[in-house]
Amino acid sequence: MNLISIDDLSPANINNILKLAFEVERCQFGVFKGKILATAFFEPSTRTKLSFQSAMIRLGGTFIDLPDNSSLKKGESEEDTIKILAHYADCIVIRHPKEVKALAKYSHVPVINAGDGGNEHPTQALLDLYTIVDNIKEQSIKLMFTGDLYHSRTINSLIKIISKHYPETEFIFTNEINPALKDCKHLLIKEEEIPNYIDSINVLYMTRPQVERHADKSIESNFILTNDLADRMKKDAIIMHPLPRTKELPKEIDTNPRAKYFTQVKNGIRIRMAFLYWLLY
Ligand code: NCD
Repeated sequence: MNLISIDDLSPANINNILKLAFEVERCQFGVFKGKILATAFFEPSTRTKLSFQSAMIRLGGTFIDLPDNSSLKKGESEEDTIKILAHYADCIVIRHPKEVKALAKYSHVPVINAGDGGNEHPTQALLDLYTIVDNIKEQSIKLMFTGDLYHSRTINSLIKIISKHYPETEFIFTNEINPALKDCKHLLIKEEEIPNYIDSINVLYMTRPQVERHADKSIESNFILTNDLADRMKKDAIIMHPLPRTKELPKEIDTNPRAKYFTQVKNGIRIRMAFLYWLLY
């Protein structure tokens, strides 16, 4: 199977992946010996690419990476490139500014979407969900999303996975979201109103302006979190961000006990190991 969207996973699939992630140390790593993961990234990445590569190595497998000076530079098509990688690897992880679904058709081995334009980023949603389940013990949760929600693929995938895993969730959006997701139970507020709701939420999920998807490259975050505001959140509430951050999330927040964005980074390895194990065995 391919993982292009959270729509490809049932609630039972999601539960099984989470369960594996919580017990990842018990995976039978030997089965990955000789297995190869290919990474083909047509957009910048630090966390997603390196954590997939690291996860594969930790499972006992290895990886190949499409280099910057590949034959794409000679005019070879992206379609042919994917066809070729599929002969060299057991699974391909692709990041692309357009739909990964279109490229996945050219692979006979599983394809994992590592973020495609403003569409989806399903493995980020899995690691975000893992972080929420690991930190929030309530069954019905309230999440507030801030930043460039409309253009954020992490937000699109997260709304979908949260709606599957916590059907009772209440979302608070501080900006317009993708109209396709508007069916979820939500409240749309203005950024100036954030202080009125901050003490009622379990999760504050922040995003940076997705500059690469805007014509105006000078856009900046309007809402900037301060420790004064963060300290008004519940004691056991958490602050999340997929990273990279810009000025919306100043460094001073890093020492706030609610800050979980580097925990998300750490969980990225665990969830990608679990997901590869679930997908390939
Ligand atoms: C996100 C992405 O690429 O969509 N980054 C990531 O994978 N952690 C978020 C972003 O770039 O803003």
